[in-house]
Amino acid sequence: MRPEIVAHRGASEHRAEHTRAAYELALQQGADGLECDIRLTRDGHLVCVHDRTVNRTSTGRGVVSTLTLAKLAELDFGQWHHELPESADDLMHEPIGQPSADLRERGLLTLDDLLGLLKDSPKHVKLFIETKHPVRYTGLVEAKLVAQLRRHGLSTPVSKEESRVVVMSFSRMAVRRVRQQAPKLPTVLLLDRFQPGLRGGALPDWADITGPGVHLLREDPDYVARCAEQGHDTYCWTVDEPADIDLCRRAGVRYLATNAPAHTRRHLESG
Ligand code: G3P
Ligand code: CA
Repeated sequence: MRPEIVAHRGASEHRAEHTRAAYELALQQGADGLECDIRLTRDGHLVCVHDRTVNRTSTGRGVVSTLTLAKLAELDFGQWHHELPESADDLMHEPIGQPSADLRERGLLTLDDLLGLLKDSPKHVKLFIETKHPVRYTGLVEAKLVAQLRRHGLSTPVSKEESRVVVMSFSRMAVRRVRQQAPKLPTVLLLDRFQPGLRGGALPDWADITGPGVHLLREDPDYVARCAEQGHDTYCWTVDEPADIDLCRRAGVRYLATNAPAHTRRHLESG
């Protein structure tokens, strides 16, 4: 079976990351899943921003947690990124849609906005939500996240396999808290190195899926099979290079997070 394609921060190679335009393009390109990072604003709203600050990705400056939702909503999160396809080849193969001149397409995306987009997307599409720096708020991010998912009717899926939402973090504490507050939600423990005791494929009982960076699979591709033996699927990030896509497919990765969903799909379908 080919890996399911998860659009990392949306179709972020061709549209500015975490914008509505990036997620809409990913859906047009047939992504099976969407990935996002979430942070809390000063006034307690969850927003989709990767970095601690807005300096790299917006027209503003400052730390997300010190800015209000209203201030963040004034910023343009699309201007820094080129929006046109990279080559004529892309034009021929990818439905690129209209350039997103509309600020609605390039403005701040809240988690609420993205959950709305998820609900309007095909039923098999999943949203992989990564909590960032939850320690600072000692559990507030997870509590707000679970409450928000509950309001959207997404916190108690019939089964983990059928859940439209998967919650992930590099923080063991964050994943454990989500499991305590919403036991039916599937969770991913993200790994940027092999932690003691995990190389054999086992996971703590509060995590369902293992989430290695692709650099770990280059070092140890059999890790995926050991996880499968223990009953765990693998979510691998961030996979853009053809050799890495091949590696993930051979190893049996279930979810493959990529910045270029259309390119990755074409590569998988041609192999
Ligand atoms: O999908 C997991 C991956 O996004 C983790 O790294 O820095 O891109 O959030 P980062
Ligand atoms: Ca992420």
